[in-house]
Amino acid sequence: MTPAPRPWALLAELTHGCPLHCPYCSNPLELTRRSAELTTDEWRDAMRQAGALGVVQTHLSGGEPLLRADLAEIVGAAAAAGLYTQLVTSGVGLTAARLAALTDAGLRSVQLSVQHADAAASDRIGGRRSFADKERAAAVVRDAGLPLGLNVVLHRANLDAVDALIDLAEDWGAERIELANTQFYGWALENRAALLPTRAQLDRARETVERRRRAGGPDLVWVVPDYFGGEPKPCMGGWGARSLTVAPDGTVLPCPVAAALPGLDPPSLRDHSLEWIWDRSAAFNAYRGTDWMRDPCRTCARRTADFGGCRCQAYALTGDAARTDPACALSPDHRLVRDLVDDGPGGAAGPVPDFVYRAPGAAPGRSGSASSPSDADHRA
Ligand SMILES: C[S@@+](CC[C@H](N)C(=O)[O-])C[C@H]1O[C@@H](n2cnc3c(N)ncnc32)[C@H](O)[C@@H]1O
Ligand code: SF4
Ligand code: SF4
Repeated sequence: MTPAPRPWALLAELTHGCPLHCPYCSNPLELTRRSAELTTDEWRDAMRQAGALGVVQTHLSGGEPLLRADLAEIVGAAAAAGLYTQLVTSGVGLTAARLAALTDAGLRSVQLSVQHADAAASDRIGGRRSFADKERAAAVVRDAGLPLGLNVVLHRANLDAVDALIDLAEDWGAERIELANTQFYGWALENRAALLPTRAQLDRARETVERRRRAGGPDLVWVVPDYFGGEPKPCMGGWGARSLTVAPDGTVLPCPVAAALPGLDPPSLRDHSLEWIWDRSAAFNAYRGTDWMRDPCRTCARRTADFGGCRCQAYALTGDAARTDPACALSPDHRLVRDLVDDGPGGAAGPVPDFVYRAPGAAPGRSGSASSPSDADHRA
């Protein structure tokens, strides 16, 4: 076995609890219950181990990380381990006092998600009134002098608002806006027919991004929609190559959605050290490097650039995680994606279904669906 490269980033999913119900959410269908989450001490130890392993930055995410009452203690442990700490949040619950406690503990930057530039549309997509909270959260971050990035997941219901979203980022004082076309995992896959944009929408949005880049303003990051381009994403910079995810219950994964892969048997921090998991576990070695690849990836010149695409997407679409990602035009399964974007919901006409929201009242751990959003903070 060739020695594993060192990881540099840790995605810490502190909880699956969340006040919002985004239909595009990539979190799994089965959510971890609050009672099964790692304790404060277990997160402290996870941060210490991550620092010792060489990790230099952590994204504190979820779910909604602000639901953890011990968030400042976790931030403090990450900072003490030498990690650059960034909060990834919906903004619901981010008051000036809360942020002050977090910055005192060592928080360095905030990524705030927003669903649309129009308040009513944003609330509809998020499944709860939250736009005003987000606007307040942005002001609080700006007043504290912390770097602010806006994250927008793009899909059919907001791609036509890209210009307005960039205006919003400027108004809210964001230094950077990440326009990430929806990745179809978890709950997003359930809503794929409603979320898939048309090619015309994508082309217009891409032109807008290019025009706004030429005009200056906030840094614009455009995350390419891989269903449309014929080129797979180099998912996570390679399996077990640069980053790791710790799920709310301590399961450690090479990518946030890999728990869905059958037979992976992901290890837990409750049973093993992070070093053992990264270097030696079967899960982290399953698709590391290029030895596992089959044709056409095995002999392809791009295999060390895109690593054969995304294992989770290969599994979700073909039932076999070791196949070439169907997003690749060279994949024998590429028609699975092409049919969807040419003749399916991403095609020109076609009826667009309503969003399916996770069931109101469902606790993390029980999945279900409802056809309309609710204001209830049902998972808090
Ligand atoms: C799962 S969320 C958790 C943090 C927080 N609840 C939020 O939404 O900002 C982490 C990040 O993933 C993004 N995200 C969620 N689902 C996604 C998807 N299907 N494709 C791309 N990004 C997604 C969110 O916009 C957010 O920036
Ligand atoms: S805010 Fe939306 S994207 Fe973030 S965890 Fe909650 S439901 Fe998922
Ligand atoms: S065949 Fe495999 S390695 Fe080559 S471009 Fe497609 S996904 Fe990448």
